[in-house]
Amino acid sequence: MHCTHAVNPPIIDRFARQIGNVRISVTDRCNFRCRYCMPEDPPFSPKEEILTFEEIVRLVKVLHSTGISKFRITGGEPTLRKGIEDLVRQIKQVCPAISVSMTTNGMKLNVLAEKLKNAGLNAINISLDSTNEETFNHLIQRNHFQQVMTGIEKALQLGFKTKINAVALKGITDREIERFIDFSMQKNVEVRFIELMPFNGNEHFRDYFISKQEIIDLIRQKEEIRELPKADPNQTSIVYALRNGKARIGFIASVTESFCNTCNRIRITANGTIRPCLHDPLEEPIRFRMRQGISDEQLLTIIRNVINKKWKEHPEFNLLDYKPPLSDRAMMLIGG
Ligand code: 5AD
Ligand code: SF4
Repeated sequence: MHCTHAVNPPIIDRFARQIGNVRISVTDRCNFRCRYCMPEDPPFSPKEEILTFEEIVRLVKVLHSTGISKFRITGGEPTLRKGIEDLVRQIKQVCPAISVSMTTNGMKLNVLAEKLKNAGLNAINISLDSTNEETFNHLIQRNHFQQVMTGIEKALQLGFKTKINAVALKGITDREIERFIDFSMQKNVEVRFIELMPFNGNEHFRDYFISKQEIIDLIRQKEEIRELPKADPNQTSIVYALRNGKARIGFIASVTESFCNTCNRIRITANGTIRPCLHDPLEEPIRFRMRQGISDEQLLTIIRNVINKKWKEHPEFNLLDYKPPLSDRAMMLIGG
């Protein structure tokens, strides 16, 4: 009754990319201070500038009416949003066929994972940039390693589709590759290395950058690694099997092998703007328009118009003169 799957034409941009995936940031707050992401004292938005659950569910409905059925909840740290499981439940009630997943730092999963499971959450990605307690805590500038590990266990126990995300960092990832592969094998979970991307606030990224190829070369010195076919043409990761298929390591090589040509995603920022690309400051504010009482049809027109301005591709990050747009938000204000 509520489910309005594909009653409206799909959203297709100028470069024939059909939008199929929406990342919704539900808060800009975070309880970690990852050195590559969060300033120590970031300018968080006041509550009234953050989309309400009602507004988010409305956006999901409107976007779903164009055939979009994959949504991911992000932050900041999405589990800091009070009642996050209720949002998941409400989205799943709008249409049970929608896939809702979450990207989290895992710290609160010990208490929240079961509630999220009961609410219908389909999958969880948990960030773990180091398997070493001291290194991890140094990186996030907090002492939450043990709680994150417990959170990962909890998600796995509950049978969540779970992936581990590790931002690839020189001096950390290269020293821990074996341990990440062991981790993948022991927990039967895919570990994905994400190439560090340049954003405002991490302009020193070149000092810490290590590429997919460098990591693969390091692995090949020790063991065999076999590329697996893509499960989905819009998949951003390239996955490899190791140890007779008992370990799986993925790469999101956004810097060295960018995938703009098949990018089918858009973002909704916590304070209610539509953002077609992570790396382009182009955004369309919709919160105040929704609060002014525009119709779903008008809302969809605004969304289509900004998506039509989605650029073909971001500039080459590796160019020495690449600079993230100056006026832009830090990563946490966009929502990984
Ligand atoms: N480059 C790559 N990944 C990043 N993340 C945060 N900042 C960056 C960056 N500069 C990741 C987080 C988390 C997800 C939300 O985004 O580590 O896995
Ligand atoms: Fe928080 Fe994620 Fe940023 Fe770390 S990377 S500070 S966990 S939002």
